[in-house]
Amino acid sequence: MTLRIGPLELTTPVVLAPMAGITNAPFRTLCRRYGGGLFVSEMIGARALVEGNQKTDQLARFGPDENPRSIQLYGVEPWAMREAAAQLVGEGRVDHIDLNFGCPAPKITRHGGGAALPWKDARFAAIVSATVEGAGGVPVTVKLRMGIDDDHLTHIDSGRAAADAGAAAVALHARTAEQLYSGSARWEAIAALKATVDVPVLGNGDIWVAEDAGRMLAETGCDGVVVGRGCLGRPWLFRELEEHLSGRPITPPPSLGEVLDVMVEHATMLVEWFGPQMGIRSFRKHTGWYLKGFPVGAELRADLHRVDSVWDLERLTAHLDRSLPYPAGVGEMRRGHTNGPRRVKLPQGWLEDRRLEQIDEAAAVAVSGG
Ligand SMILES: Cc1cc2nc3c(=O)[nH]c(=O)nc-3n(C[C@H](O)[C@H](O)[C@H](O)COP(=O)(O)O)c2cc1C
Repeated sequence: MTLRIGPLELTTPVVLAPMAGITNAPFRTLCRRYGGGLFVSEMIGARALVEGNQKTDQLARFGPDENPRSIQLYGVEPWAMREAAAQLVGEGRVDHIDLNFGCPAPKITRHGGGAALPWKDARFAAIVSATVEGAGGVPVTVKLRMGIDDDHLTHIDSGRAAADAGAAAVALHARTAEQLYSGSARWEAIAALKATVDVPVLGNGDIWVAEDAGRMLAETGCDGVVVGRGCLGRPWLFRELEEHLSGRPITPPPSLGEVLDVMVEHATMLVEWFGPQMGIRSFRKHTGWYLKGFPVGAELRADLHRVDSVWDLERLTAHLDRSLPYPAGVGEMRRGHTNGPRRVKLPQGWLEDRRLEQIDEAAAVAVSGG
């Protein structure tokens, strides 16, 4: 089953979801080694990028083995999105651009950005077309939630508007911003979007194990799946997804020894990419996900949250029994964000009108995940 996104052809219809602080070049490279798909960067602020912010520029870089290179942009100003896209494409740095319209973080929605923005339908369409224009022939996709809350659903309108504005595909995280990460993703919304738009639809929400992806494709008719939290501490999920979706038997999960080897490899890659301090610090959050379900003890888990070098990681885990099998049922266990529901913070009077007179400067400069 091939997924086509503009000129891109993916033989495995799987996308690694953009996740702030997670889907940096080392993690994308690690996941890609296990299976096919599209591996999207964490969200990059368009304004910060065009203003030459060094940190943003570093986050927008790709490793030598990354192909196609996929970046997610965040922004609320059509001009900044056009310029950011034109800059990235002009410098030959990307092969795909995704747009974040799903971020529920209060510091973003409070100013009208992220998941708040599609409610302002004309501004939404203007952002998508400006990015498509700036991107030249590089495909642009949009990533949506279902809307702000159940009384303000926008995914069908936004999907249509995005397709009309030239988006090559539409991804839907089938929850509202109000839901955050609570409850279950409502896959029926993905099916409804698929029935409405002509561009490919990517379904997102609650794919924990490979079989979930097969089920989502079958139940919703979507063209590809976007996998976020399910691969935290389990980058080999991309191997399982490829195997399952191409009808092959799924390789058994790794033993504890093999998991430890992946951890060391991941930590080493982060250290090489970000430098020793920032690299190992950004690895700490992964340790709990990798060891979920293994009987390693609370003390070691706490020590690993303070791990300060790759050598320290190896030392702390040297005594573990490498032959322990991967614990049953861990794949299905929820990980990463699980919070919500929570009322969405919005600018004063935001829901009264779908037109947008003016947007808060703070929305343009804000950067965060979600
Ligand atoms: C830690 C974390 C960071 C995230 N950062 C982003 C982001 O930068 N951009 C985005 O569009 N979505 C972001 N998301 C949302 C995911 O891309 C995805 O839509 C969501 O997790 C639902 O998919 P899942 O059930 O497969 O995890 C983030 C999610 C998590 C857990």
